[in-house]
Amino acid sequence: NKGKYEHYMQKEIHEQPESLTTTMRGRLIRGGSCKAKSVLLGGLKDHLKTIRRSRRVVFIGCGTSYNAALAARPILEELSGIPVTMEIASDLLDRQGPIYREDTTVFVSQSGETADTLQALEYALENGALCVGITNTVGSAIARNTHCGVHINAGCEIGVASTKAYTSQIVVMAMMALAIGSDTISSQSRRETIIDGLFDLPSKVREVLKLDQEMKDLAKLLISEQSLLVFGRGYNYATALEGALKVKEVALMHSEGILAGEMKHGPLALVDETLPIVVIATRDACFRFLLMYSKQQSVIQQLHARKGRLIVMCTKGDAASVCAGGSSRIIEVPQVEDCLQPVINIVPLQLLAYHLTVLRGYNVDQPRNLAKSVTTQ
Ligand code: UD1
Ligand code: F6R
Repeated sequence: NKGKYEHYMQKEIHEQPESLTTTMRGRLIRGGSCKAKSVLLGGLKDHLKTIRRSRRVVFIGCGTSYNAALAARPILEELSGIPVTMEIASDLLDRQGPIYREDTTVFVSQSGETADTLQALEYALENGALCVGITNTVGSAIARNTHCGVHINAGCEIGVASTKAYTSQIVVMAMMALAIGSDTISSQSRRETIIDGLFDLPSKVREVLKLDQEMKDLAKLLISEQSLLVFGRGYNYATALEGALKVKEVALMHSEGILAGEMKHGPLALVDETLPIVVIATRDACFRFLLMYSKQQSVIQQLHARKGRLIVMCTKGDAASVCAGGSSRIIEVPQVEDCLQPVINIVPLQLLAYHLTVLRGYNVDQPRNLAKSVTTQ
């Protein structure tokens, strides 16, 4: 049932404040006078000790689920101190990459049925790793065959392009990082700030959804473009990849997410006065990331110097400073805790992909050649 919406993708984008609330329900503990704020993930609590002892965490997934894990990687590394590596399921299988008994492997999948991810799970089980599932589908193959895990509880996702599952996956993996790191006293205040940020997140998502009309206007400008680049770094490298994936899979427009730190190592050659480029340059709250914000400002200056056609996503109030030295279109988004910013920043790009698709006259909910659940290899 699409309710007041024309398409499932549109409905699922707009219901994110509610789906995120459901994802967090019963899992955030407010704390009290003598009790700290904390996270309770029923499916992981008996395995936290084993996870903390592991030598490495390996995130495994495909498509959007991989991107969600990439968004959560920095906070898991920060709060757990455990090295985290990333694997696209098919590539791990192609290489038969090493997986050890001392590893915690985390399988991220909305459907829980993706053939590549499922086969990678069998491979990790054979190699004796602890296997954790992050799935949206209770009773799915991945949920059943992992040793433990967390259901993201985002509700049924019907549009082929994953939207609300992406944001719920990031939130679940951030909560997983909080749970794994909960035995470290030195990061207690950092964890409590993130938990406060989680409580506020649905209302911030509601705020960013107000950009709908603005994104529709932007889509009108981009309707006949051949290509769109998206630059991001740090927490928002995943946003660049995921934004580009949405644009290519539903709007059928070539789009590429690029790690901004790699710009000078090749992509800069593409920049001219015609190619539209989205630059994600939101401010990260944490001090050590202020450096990253200024790095992204320098990327913007270099793109301006080459007369690049920029669309800059920045924190509310930063428009003037971020665009000094050239003109750009601006997307202003609310600021949240750094590790949660990818949940906010993807929303305007989901809206952009949606409107571009409708304006270009393509099928939003059933893009050509794609299936919701890829059960063949
Ligand atoms: C569970 C119940 C929920 C109930 C809550 C009350 C289910 C599905 N969930 O939620 O209805 O309100 O307790 O305390 O009955 N698992 C995997 N792999 C996965 C995902 C999950 O093995 O990919 C396992 C978990 O380790 C856990 C079980 O499935 O044993 C349920 O996981 P989850 O729904 O996330 O647990 P709770 O949030 O505690
Ligand atoms: C993108 C998309 C695909 C899936 C991928 C993995 O919008 O839908 O890239 O994310 O096929 O699917 P799951 O998460 O079901 O394993």
